[in-house]
Amino acid sequence: MASRTFHIQTFGCQMNERDSETLAGMLTEMGYSEEPARDEASIIIINTCSVREHADERFFGTLGQLKRVKAKRPDTLVCLCGCMMQQQHIIDRVKTKFPWVDVIFGTHNIHNFPKLIKAVAEQKEHQVEVFPDGGEIVEGLPSKRKFRHKAFVNITFGCNNFCTYCIVPYTRGRERSRKASDIIAEIKKLAADGVKEVTLLGQNVNSYKGEEADGSICDFPDLLRMVEGVDGIERIRFMTSHPKDLSPKLINEFKENKKLCGHIHLPFQAGSDDVLKRMNRRYTSEQYLSLLESLREARPDIAVSTDIIVGFPGETEEDFEKTLELCEKAKFDSAFTFIYSVRKGTPAEKYEDQIPEDVKHERFGRLVDVINRSAAEKNAAMKGKVCLVLVEGKSKNGEGIMQGRTDGFKLVDFPADESLEGEIVKVEITEGKTFSLRGRLSE
Ligand code: SAH
Ligand code: SF4
Ligand code: F3S
Repeated sequence: MASRTFHIQTFGCQMNERDSETLAGMLTEMGYSEEPARDEASIIIINTCSVREHADERFFGTLGQLKRVKAKRPDTLVCLCGCMMQQQHIIDRVKTKFPWVDVIFGTHNIHNFPKLIKAVAEQKEHQVEVFPDGGEIVEGLPSKRKFRHKAFVNITFGCNNFCTYCIVPYTRGRERSRKASDIIAEIKKLAADGVKEVTLLGQNVNSYKGEEADGSICDFPDLLRMVEGVDGIERIRFMTSHPKDLSPKLINEFKENKKLCGHIHLPFQAGSDDVLKRMNRRYTSEQYLSLLESLREARPDIAVSTDIIVGFPGETEEDFEKTLELCEKAKFDSAFTFIYSVRKGTPAEKYEDQIPEDVKHERFGRLVDVINRSAAEKNAAMKGKVCLVLVEGKSKNGEGIMQGRTDGFKLVDFPADESLEGEIVKVEITEGKTFSLRGRLSE
């Protein structure tokens, strides 16, 4: 019998990473094992992202490569899932140009994947199953985690915010919250399995609203308190936070919650209030800065990262300078910077005054300079500090070097023995670089 192996290639955000862990868990239960070389596996899954246009191009490039694999080994099962598969125009293009693809499924029916691959095997027919929106949340699916000592835990699915540039509400559907009792049960199991750090995931965790069978409601800060109570869990993180829903109650958690890490990812997207309005972000730059102030009051050493878009339709040079100004004031530890990319079906697709590519690139370069400078300054200021670091594994930067993350989510390399993997150790920072830190074990 041919070997039963699988390989999952994952694009996009932590939602997709988490979904891939579920797919890997289901396949492992079915007796498949993971094959590190994609083109050797008997099942190849591509978990796609559609947040920016260049992701589409990369995806069709990948399909071109898989065509050759399929020609050589026709028994290989090629399966496509993730956010791109929630878009009909993409499915149509796949069906016409790549008719040999075996299975297509969406973000709302991952739990049906075992059924779909059984159906292809039995019926020898391609299977396409994409639900337009999520129904009931399916609990209790298996998971094969990427890391032993840290785990992602979904708390909400979907998004209701409809930022005008963003495809996610269309691909992931309306926001739904898991029950707090289900989340806590999952985290207890993870803790029993040796997990020390959990990252609670949602497109906007701040609007989490769990409802129990008895009708009682749990909001996000309540949930953080419940997670704090789980023995064995030592660190809690979450992402992503929308500034419009960052409540004083949540900010207070940074003061009170003993396990909540000192880091927040708080995307601001643009510094101009006019652009923010057209993005439908529902806050002003002043409100954003005042949130940072409150956060730093609650936790003076809190690390702040963000997402920024340049070249949104209609963005003037003056608007863009406001983005730079906000960066100077906010003093970010790091930022993901994006060039605006038109997404089919979003309101901003129809906006006039799309910005020419060369202008977008020129602004992008200036923004990256400001961000890198601020990140380097923040990291340099870490020198001499002693941090608690969860050791994640070997660093790629040399023999005998281990790597971990500080409480503030900064990556740090330090000489140490491999046996420390999974431990939380004290590290003295000896050097701060733009994107990472170096250190040595400290007493
Ligand atoms: N839910 C999260 C992020 C989701 S997408 C949040 O609201 O913060 C991650 C980031 O991709 C966004 O924060 C945004 O900066 C960027 N992004 C989304 N759509 C984009 C587009 N059409 N063009 C460029 N960047 C985009
Ligand atoms: Fe997209 Fe906005 Fe929702 Fe984030 S909050 S996923 S940027 S629509
Ligand atoms: Fe991409 Fe979907 Fe995440 S579009 S960013 S994988 S929610």
